[in-house]
Amino acid sequence: MNQRRKFLKTAGQLTFALSLAPVGCKYMRVISADSRIAPRKVNRAAVLWYSQTGYTRRTGRLLARTMEKAGVKTLSGEVREINPQELADFDLLIVGSPVFYYDAPEFVRNWIESLPKLNGTLVASFVTFGGPEGNQHNAACSILDGLAERGGIPLGLETFMNMAAYPLSWSEDSVSDNVWHARHLPDEATYERIRAYARHLLAAAEQGRGVEYSKKLTMRELVTFINPIWWTKLSISNHSIDAEKCIACGLCEAKCPVHAIDLSKLSIDTQACVLCFGCLNNCPACAVHMEAGGKTLIGYQEFMKIKNLSIIEPAEL
Ligand SMILES: Cc1cc2nc3c(=O)[nH]c(=O)nc-3n(C[C@H](O)[C@H](O)[C@H](O)COP(=O)(O)O)c2cc1C
Repeated sequence: MNQRRKFLKTAGQLTFALSLAPVGCKYMRVISADSRIAPRKVNRAAVLWYSQTGYTRRTGRLLARTMEKAGVKTLSGEVREINPQELADFDLLIVGSPVFYYDAPEFVRNWIESLPKLNGTLVASFVTFGGPEGNQHNAACSILDGLAERGGIPLGLETFMNMAAYPLSWSEDSVSDNVWHARHLPDEATYERIRAYARHLLAAAEQGRGVEYSKKLTMRELVTFINPIWWTKLSISNHSIDAEKCIACGLCEAKCPVHAIDLSKLSIDTQACVLCFGCLNNCPACAVHMEAGGKTLIGYQEFMKIKNLSIIEPAEL
């Protein structure tokens, strides 16, 4: 009996440790086995992002501004606003995304697959995240893998922590510890890392230093194989739009990456929904309704208001 209890305790501790810390085991092929590349000056760069609550947009904008300050002609914007065919002539393409469910969202990965052949364009990625650390590096690898598969030459990848914009981790009266501890982020130190990343990419290109990278085997990486969105959906109910509160601004429709919302009918296709919370997190009228475990969820805008939180923007923006 004692033996069994000891075994269960050890197994429990091991699982917990694995889920918190990435194991330094490489299991993905290294795409850029040789990190030496032909040195070149970056004259034109594109910084593109997918963003729901603004953290990735802010990071992308600061990267773009830092590049511009260094004399690089820079195009920046949301991936959905840019015609992929326009991206053929850039020296450097940087793509950023939030981490959703331990990976880059499928929407972003599909968008990258739709890019024209990049034929030797330098490519880099970044992610913003808010969860307990463990899989964010792999999410940045996912993006870089996709860009490399289109023919890009990997130059860098980076992760930036923020407060998680994840409504299941807060309610009106309680907030999970890790979210609350990160409520001051992004701060000036985050912004300095973002600027440093932009400068690093330009210097690496000039010095001919590509990046060698590989995913790490983590417990969270394994979780991505069992469809965490589907599991999370099991706890969500009554996802709908309140006709009384809706001001028909169209933001929920625009934010939904899978077109699951039809505002003209005030309907949400909950089968198609990928549970990104973009509708709930962005609605300025609190008209998007969602419940988890019978409790009404509050979105990011409302959460920030209730908790009296605000973001301090970097000076350049
Ligand atoms: C649906 C959803 C899932 C998330 N999953 C993760 C996760 O697996 N790991 C993590 O570190 N953060 C996770 N987060 C936090 C976001 O990555 C973080 O808030 C990010 O900075 C949001 O970027 P945005 O404001 O550009 O949308 C999640 C947030 C949402 C809304």
